[in-house]
Amino acid sequence: MKAFHSIIIAVALSSAVQVQAASGKKQIPVYKNAKAPVEQRVEDLLSRMTFEEKVLQLNQYVLGRNDNDNNIGEVVSKVPPELGSVIYINDNYAIRNAMQKRCMEETRLGIPMLFGYDVIHGFRTIFPIPLAQAASWNTELAGRAARVAALESYATGIDWTFSPMVDVARDPRWGRISEGYGEDPYTAARFCEAVVRGYQGEDLSAPGNIAACLKHYVGYGASEAGRDYVPTEISRQTLWDTYLTPFEAGVKAGAATLMSSFNNISGTPGSANRYTLTEVRKNIWKHEGFVVSDWDAVKQLINQGMAADGKEAAMLAFNAGLEMDMVDDLYRKHLPALVEEGKVSMADVDEAVRRVLRVKFLLGLFDNPYAPESTPEQRYLIPEYRSVALEAAVESAVLLKNNSILPLSRNSRIALVGPLADDAVNMLGRWAGRGRGEDCVSILSGMKSEFADVTCVRGCGLDSKEACNYEAAVAAVASADVAVVCLGEKNGWSGENASRSTTLLPEVQRGLLDAVAACGKPVVLLLGTGRPVDVTTMEPKADAIMEIWQLGVEEGNAVAGLLSGKYVPSGKLPVTFQYTDGQIPIYYNRRNSARRGTQGLYQDIQSTPMYEFGYGLSYTTFEYSPVSLSSSEVTEGGKITARVTVRNTGKADAKETVHWFITDPYSIITRPVKELRFFEKKLIRAGESVDFVFEIEPLRDLGFVDENGRKYVDKGLYHLSVGSSKVDINVR
Ligand code: GLC
Repeated sequence: MKAFHSIIIAVALSSAVQVQAASGKKQIPVYKNAKAPVEQRVEDLLSRMTFEEKVLQLNQYVLGRNDNDNNIGEVVSKVPPELGSVIYINDNYAIRNAMQKRCMEETRLGIPMLFGYDVIHGFRTIFPIPLAQAASWNTELAGRAARVAALESYATGIDWTFSPMVDVARDPRWGRISEGYGEDPYTAARFCEAVVRGYQGEDLSAPGNIAACLKHYVGYGASEAGRDYVPTEISRQTLWDTYLTPFEAGVKAGAATLMSSFNNISGTPGSANRYTLTEVRKNIWKHEGFVVSDWDAVKQLINQGMAADGKEAAMLAFNAGLEMDMVDDLYRKHLPALVEEGKVSMADVDEAVRRVLRVKFLLGLFDNPYAPESTPEQRYLIPEYRSVALEAAVESAVLLKNNSILPLSRNSRIALVGPLADDAVNMLGRWAGRGRGEDCVSILSGMKSEFADVTCVRGCGLDSKEACNYEAAVAAVASADVAVVCLGEKNGWSGENASRSTTLLPEVQRGLLDAVAACGKPVVLLLGTGRPVDVTTMEPKADAIMEIWQLGVEEGNAVAGLLSGKYVPSGKLPVTFQYTDGQIPIYYNRRNSARRGTQGLYQDIQSTPMYEFGYGLSYTTFEYSPVSLSSSEVTEGGKITARVTVRNTGKADAKETVHWFITDPYSIITRPVKELRFFEKKLIRAGESVDFVFEIEPLRDLGFVDENGRKYVDKGLYHLSVGSSKVDINVR
C-alpha cells in the first residue's frame, strides 16, 4: 500500500487531464472520469458543489438500528442522499445499495455515501479480541484476520471500518483495554500497520478493500482511574513517546482516516485539539485523509466545559481540524452561520470536503458504488475464514502456569465446570460486529470433539444472579481424572463504558474454584477475560492456568486442541498482569525510580506484578544462545546486526516469539527501564535451532522522540537484551 499521501502528491503533479469525450459524445465531467487522476477529480467536483452540498459531506448519521447501547441521544432518522456518511448497522447489502442508488441517481452531483461500521475484530467471522491477538505476537496473522474482516464487510456494503483501535492502555480497570494491543507503544504500532494493510490492501479502490480508521485519537487509554469518558493527564513528552506512536505508524501505513477521542487531553479534548488534529496529523505527518469525531464528541465539548453551546462546539471542533461530525448533526446545523459570521473560513470547509472526497475517490466509490450481490453463505464464515479464526485463537491463548499436567491425555475423564464451560456468546467479546452465538464453538463442544470422556456442570453463573450448584460440580470432579474450570467475564464487562473498580472475578466464581480445588484432583483454570484480572487468590488453587481471553467463534476448538496438545501454546502477554489492583498502573516500560533497592516499594504487598509483560509458557522449552553483535560500535547512520540462536530443547514442535529490548541508561530525557524495539515469532522443530536476527538502525531502533515530535538518537551507551542475555552497544 503506497503511503496514503504519496498517491496524492503523485497524481496532483500529473498534467491536467483533458477529458476528451469520444467523438460526438457529450463531454463528461472530470470527476466522473475513472481515468482522471484523483486530485483532478476532487478539485473538479469541489468546484461544482454548492455550500450546502459541501456541509452535508461533513456529517455522519446512522442507518439501521443503533447496536451500541452506550450511545444514546436522538438518532437522526431521515438520511438525506447528499449526506457524507452513515454508520451502517445491518448485514444486508441490498438496503445499503438502495441508499447508495439514491445518492448516485437522486442527487445533483451523484456523490456516493461512505458506509462505516465498527468492524473491530471481525464482521461475522469473529476473531479473538485485539488484546488477545496482540498476545499472539503474530502481526502477519492479525493482518490476515483483518483481511477476512474486510472481505465480509465489503460484501455487506461496508466501505469503512472504525478500526484498528490503537490506544495504549495500562489500566485494566478500563474496559476498553480489551479493544487495543496492550501497554506497549511499539507493539501497538506493529499491529496497527498490519491491520491497516489487511483492511486497505495495496490499492484501496480494489474490490474487497475497506478504509481503516485509527482510533481513538489520542490518549484515551490514559483515562483516569480506568473510568471511561473522563479526562486524561498527558504531557507533550508522553503524548509523543507513548500515545502518538501507533497512530504515526498507522498514518505512515496509509490509514485513510482517524477518529478523534472523547477524552480531555490535559485541558483540551481530543475532538477539539488543534495540536493533535492539525499540527501533528496534518502539518507534521502530512495525513491527507480525514478525521471523524467519535459519537457525539462534538456536542460533548459542552459537557466537558469547553463550549457553551452546540454552535460554539461546532466552531471549536471544526477549526481545530476535525473534518467529519458523527451523529450529533452540529456541523450541518451551524457551519453555514459560522461561515456567514466569519468564524469558520470557506477555505477550511473546502479543505475538509476535499479530504472526504479524496477518500471516496481512492475507495473507488464513484466508479463502483454498489456492493456485489451474494448470499450470506457466500459472504460469511466460509471454511477459509474459520480456519484463520482458529489459527488466531490458538496463537492468542497464553499458558501462565503448568505443573506438568498439560497437555491432557485424550482418554482422561474430564469434569468441565464453570460458567463459560458451555457458553457460546461471551467468547465473541465486545464490538463483535454482526457475530452471533450460533456461530460459536463452545468449549464444551470443542472438548467433546477432542476428548473421549467429558462431563460438563456449570456449577455457578458468571455472577451471583444465577443459582450456584457447587455440589454438582464437585460430584463431577470426584469421578473425573482432572477438572477444567472455565471462569471469566461476560463480554459486556469489558469494552466501552465498562470500567470496573476491581479486576477480581466475582466471589461466586472464585468460590467454585475453591470447591473444586478441595477435591484434590488436578485443576486446569481457563480465564476467559477481556482484561488482565487479579488471579492472586486463584493461582494457588490451580495446577495449570491459561488466559484464553475472548477468542471468537473458534474458541472451543482452539482451547480443546491446546489442552490435548494438538496445538502448543505460543502466546505471551502484551500487558502486565497486576499482582493486585492496588498496583495499577503497573507496566514494564516505566521510567526508573529515584531510589533503588527496597526503597519506594509497597510496604504491604510485593511490588512486582503477577505476570510480566511478554510472559507465556509452552509445552516445550527453549534455550537462547548469548547475543552476538556484528559490532558493538555503530555510527548514528550506520547499522549493526544482532543475532541469537534459539534451540527447542523439548519434544514438541512449537512457535517462539523473541522480544528484543533496548535500554538507554542515561539520557537527557529519561527513558523507560527497557523498551521493546523488535519482535519475531518463528516455528522451531523439537531438537532444532533457529536464528533470530535484529538489524539495528540507531535512529529507528535506539532513538527516542522529544516533546515536539523530533526523533533523535543519543550518542553513547545502550544495552540490548533478549532472553536472559544483555550486550552493550555504543553509538559514536
Ligand atoms: C463509540 C465508540 C467508538 C465507535 C463509535 C461508533 O462511542 O467510542 O469506538 O467507533 O462510537 O460506534
